[in-house]
Amino acid sequence: MHLQRIPFSCLWLLALLTPWNVLADEVMYESNDYSTGALGLGPFQTFFSSSSTPAMWNFVVPYNESTAGQIEPGLVFIAPRGTNVNSQGALIYEKTGDLIWDGTQYGQTATFRVSTYKNEPVILLWTGEITASGTGSGYDLILNNQYEIIANFTANLNGSLADFHDVVITENNTALITAYQAKTWDLSLYNISDGWLLDSAFQEIDPETGDALFTWIASDWVDVNSCYAAPGTTGTAANNAWDFFHINAVNKDNFGNYLISSRHCHTLFYIGPDGNIIWTIGGKNSSIFQGDNTIFSWQHDARWASNQTQISLFDNEGTSWELDSTNSRGLLLDFDATNNSVSLANQWIPYNISVTESQGNVHTLDSGNTLIGWGQNPWFSEYDANGQFLYVVEFGVGDVQSYRAYHFNWTATPNTLPSVFVDANSSTTVYTSWNGATEVATWQLSGSTAGSPQLAIPLSNTSRGGFETAISVSDSDTSYTFYQVAAFDSNNKIIAYSNFTSADGTSMAPAANQTVNAGNSTSPSTSSSSSPKATTTSSSSWFY
Ligand SMILES: *[C@@H]1O[C@H](CO)[C@@H](O)[C@H](O)[C@H]1NC(C)=O
Ligand SMILES: *[C@@H]1O[C@H](CO)[C@@H](O)[C@H](O)[C@H]1NC(C)=O
Ligand SMILES: *[C@@H]1O[C@H](CO)[C@@H](O)[C@H](O)[C@H]1NC(C)=O
Ligand SMILES: *[C@@H]1O[C@H](CO)[C@@H](O)[C@H](O)[C@H]1NC(C)=O
Ligand SMILES: *[C@@H]1O[C@H](CO)[C@@H](O)[C@H](O)[C@H]1NC(C)=O
Ligand SMILES: *[C@@H]1O[C@H](CO)[C@@H](O)[C@H](O)[C@H]1NC(C)=O
Ligand SMILES: *[C@@H]1O[C@H](CO)[C@@H](O)[C@H](O)[C@H]1NC(C)=O
Ligand SMILES: *[C@@H]1O[C@H](CO)[C@@H](O)[C@H](O)[C@H]1NC(C)=O
Ligand SMILES: *[C@@H]1O[C@H](CO)[C@@H](O)[C@H](O)[C@H]1NC(C)=O
Ligand SMILES: *[C@@H]1O[C@H](CO)[C@@H](O)[C@H](O)[C@H]1NC(C)=O
Ligand SMILES: *[C@@H]1O[C@H](CO)[C@@H](O)[C@H](O)[C@H]1NC(C)=O
Ligand SMILES: *[C@@H]1O[C@H](CO)[C@@H](O)[C@H](O)[C@H]1NC(C)=O
Repeated sequence: MHLQRIPFSCLWLLALLTPWNVLADEVMYESNDYSTGALGLGPFQTFFSSSSTPAMWNFVVPYNESTAGQIEPGLVFIAPRGTNVNSQGALIYEKTGDLIWDGTQYGQTATFRVSTYKNEPVILLWTGEITASGTGSGYDLILNNQYEIIANFTANLNGSLADFHDVVITENNTALITAYQAKTWDLSLYNISDGWLLDSAFQEIDPETGDALFTWIASDWVDVNSCYAAPGTTGTAANNAWDFFHINAVNKDNFGNYLISSRHCHTLFYIGPDGNIIWTIGGKNSSIFQGDNTIFSWQHDARWASNQTQISLFDNEGTSWELDSTNSRGLLLDFDATNNSVSLANQWIPYNISVTESQGNVHTLDSGNTLIGWGQNPWFSEYDANGQFLYVVEFGVGDVQSYRAYHFNWTATPNTLPSVFVDANSSTTVYTSWNGATEVATWQLSGSTAGSPQLAIPLSNTSRGGFETAISVSDSDTSYTFYQVAAFDSNNKIIAYSNFTSADGTSMAPAANQTVNAGNSTSPSTSSSSSPKATTTSSSSWFY
């Protein structure tokens, strides 16, 4: 059900009755009530068949007939967090704003993306504590396409755990992670006795063994007094150490060199296999010449692009104590290795001209489009190759943030069963959802009786209609005690059976002959079940 089809006046009434947690797959379009916070600071969706409460989107700039065709197919990955988020953590959505996967069981998440590990598409997800200093202490998880954890690793650095700022899988199935380490340091220059430094590090880790294959520590190579964030009131204790460098991105290329980003030095460092600094871009002593309009500050998410002829980054242009411009921007630099220079290739200006004081990312896409996550501001926007908006989404208005926003293709069949809720009020409705499933095209409803609870009698077929599908049970079929759904993919293959579920919540496992291999494309022997033919079409997902 998509409530945007309901007249605005009805929506408003609904909002009065149940402020900001309206049922079902709902998105809003240019909703002033959403933007002003009248619907609450972190509006969220709720469902019958699931306890998920994902952030509800408001398309501040909606896609339209002329822009929809240019939108790159794929799913959106965000991880809302902050005091106004109902349930913090990883969320995958269709581009319509309909939920695909709720991964909030892992709690507050920062880096959350698709990657490739051992030739398989996987989800990479950081989970842990984010400290007041804006660094993290936790674990990086790799999930397969059934959402099973296949690796769980952290830093290997004198007890420091993995920081949240980055995790990248290399072509050799190693992981690059960031880490922070408090250590005593002579800060008498700043009149701090018994000083403490919060050092930045990155490591290349073997996710299977947890071994560190390479460790780089910023203070070994960079003068701690050469950057832009003075100690201020920090530097006095291990839990108040001075974060002079603030590493927030790490990459490795086929030359075996690393490209990293230091927010507090306004500098990208290119680092050789011995740890030596090959060149720097930005900061007080850039070794690469920066052309017009290429100066960046407090940046995030520096990545090579176009076979190392370009670098993309999120140029914050500010932090909580300093604004360097009217707005942040996505930035694409042409990198001229011969001339040792960078020049402006492209920039992406936010819809709401403003500075993102922390976080943010730039995801350049294959089609030439770019998705930008505005970090501390709960916005993301997709641009076409000419830098025009295709749409802009807000996913909260208060303290709602997402470290990054990504756009990936992702195919998954969970190792769980679809979830069913039977509502027997007035006319019976069966609600079904299957957290994380991307391949369901049609739900087949079956009924069974108390006498033969596990004998499924097919009743109807319904096209998947967003995260949750509401299946109306026809009056002649309301006598069944139990209802069950079977998930069919677009090739009419059964990919899962739900439990048999009654209106009082009694739930019984599928029958013994109803087994399918989740994540296995082999068709089960379903001699009796005819190919489903959708009888109702409720999905509005005309792209994803
Ligand atoms: C479609 O959206 C784009 C981007 O916001 C806008 O420039 C354009 O005018 C819109 N076109 C129509 C027909 O509304
Ligand atoms: C990852 O490993 C750590 C250390 O063993 C453990 O505490 C944590 O629970 C694991 N995370 C998950 C999600 O299993
Ligand atoms: C980390 O551990 C190594 C090996 O035990 C030691 O040499 C080094 O001094 C330690 N570093 C810190 C910062 O404690
Ligand atoms: C350190 O203290 C001295 C003497 O009070 C003062 O002159 C100097 O400005 C101080 N330096 C800093 C960085 O605060
Ligand atoms: C992967 O391993 C090969 C062979 O050792 C090496 O040449 C290449 O640089 C490595 N790539 C990365 C990104 O580490
Ligand atoms: C500036 O960087 C160059 C290398 O590009 C280095 O030789 C020089 O020592 C640096 N100067 C300062 C003041 O850091
Ligand atoms: C990428 O650039 C390298 C030179 O740095 C070149 O040898 C290689 O062919 C390029 N690859 C592609 C796919 O263009
Ligand atoms: C490299 O620099 C030289 C001298 O500044 C200039 O003439 C040339 O056009 C530059 N080349 C490129 C590819 O920008
Ligand atoms: C998803 O796959 C489609 C079809 O191959 C492709 O056109 C699109 O670029 C992909 N989207 C992303 C975000 O990679
Ligand atoms: C299915 O039924 C079994 C057996 O009663 C129960 O253990 C399980 O939690 C149920 N699963 C779901 C998704 O309802
Ligand atoms: C798919 O199922 C078949 C039959 O049960 C099994 O032999 C095969 O190993 C499974 N493949 C995967 C990838 O799980
Ligand atoms: C399971 O067994 C029952 C009873 O024999 C049969 O009616 C039903 O068609 C079977 N279902 C499947 C999926 O094979």
